[in-house]
Amino acid sequence: MARKPIIAGNWKMNMTPAEAKELISALIPLVQDAQADVVICPPYLVLPTAAELVKGTNIALGAQNIHWAEKGAFTGEISAKMLKEVGVSYAIIGHSERRQYFGETDETVNMRTKAAIAAGITPIICVGESLEERETGKTEAIVSAQAEKALAGIEVEDVKALVIAYEPIWAIGTGKTATKEQANETIACIRETVKKLYGKENAEAVRIQYGGSMNPKNAAELMAMPEIDGGLIGGASLKAEDFSKVVKY
Ligand code: 13P
Repeated sequence: MARKPIIAGNWKMNMTPAEAKELISALIPLVQDAQADVVICPPYLVLPTAAELVKGTNIALGAQNIHWAEKGAFTGEISAKMLKEVGVSYAIIGHSERRQYFGETDETVNMRTKAAIAAGITPIICVGESLEERETGKTEAIVSAQAEKALAGIEVEDVKALVIAYEPIWAIGTGKTATKEQANETIACIRETVKKLYGKENAEAVRIQYGGSMNPKNAAELMAMPEIDGGLIGGASLKAEDFSKVVKY
């Protein structure tokens, strides 16, 4: 069974609602005939504006995080129910910037993943190694452990729909892309972990993206690799033309 490619733009902390309006309006006609699933993940504040704009288009909306609790005293956090109500269908979980700067752990990643699934929001679970970990040969152990912990307690019937993003930390925002072989090999290892936990059929259905300095120039060769099912795009998702070129690699 062929996996449908999925290209998602992680805007990170960029774009005011007004700027987003401009970007999304420019993007809609450029990607309307895309073969891949197209997702944009703007900042929370932009989601309601974005939801209005993408209504009736082939662009789906994602959040950059999601809290595990239904509601309550969690200052600064956003719940699955809130996201769902404004029309969000994906949530990035465990991005390395969250892990690095905001104390996100494998345990909170797991809790957020469960909350997303329970609300009918597709998690985009991020895993990836540091440069030091790669250079000391720990990449496979690190990404497998991250994937395994993120998936702990996830029911087998929920696995097929998941999206995982392999983002080597050293490739994020650095202009230094993993080679297509490195990306393919590490994604194969993540898929192997899913297979070990949930069997071959589920492992073959899960879509695993590559992320890290993916852009219009390198998208085609990365996407040609058999294990790479999509991209999680940072910098290049902030310009309509660039993002549309990645979408139509
Ligand atoms: P860049 O594409 O800017 O390297 O960012 C990748 C990323 O972190 C997407 O989540």
